[in-house]
Amino acid sequence: MTTLFTFEDAQRHKEKGDCWLIIDGKVYDVSKFADEHPGGDQVLFASTGKDATEDFEDIGHSAGALELMTQFAIGDIDVTTLPVKHDVRVTPVVVKSPSDMLITALQFLIPLTILALALAVRFLTNDPKSMTPS
Ligand code: HEM
Repeated sequence: MTTLFTFEDAQRHKEKGDCWLIIDGKVYDVSKFADEHPGGDQVLFASTGKDATEDFEDIGHSAGALELMTQFAIGDIDVTTLPVKHDVRVTPVVVKSPSDMLITALQFLIPLTILALALAVRFLTNDPKSMTPS
């Protein structure tokens, strides 16, 4: 029968000589392997106390590594005890600088001013009589 560990159980083993990893729902005791790990022992310690599946997969470990790891498996993790991952999405907030706001205002004001000037010129230079039909 497979032993079921809680996240809390696995979390306690996070140092040299006592190092457990949680990878893909399984718990691995790599205490004795850490010194021989080709990626060094520090990366293994850094992956303790959490679900290390992503860390492990990001490296793109070889088929040989996957086979090797089976001998370190000591049980399964009770997935209900794993901390819930929050999908943090950051919505960028666009803060307009005063100069940006001035440019936006000018984009409206310049055409409006030209239009107003054109109407004023037309109004002032028009002979009211020419407007009436003959
Ligand atoms: C039971 C768990 C693990 C086993 C058995 C294992 C085994 C191995 C093996 C055999 C290699 C040599 C390259 C290969 O064959 O893929 C390797 C490389 C490496 N591993 Fe792991 N590993 C484990 C967990 C981890 C974890 C959790 C990390 C965290 C990031 C990690 C990081 C690395 C790194 C950085 C390398 C070096 C890659 C390179 O030089 O290109 N390993 N590992």
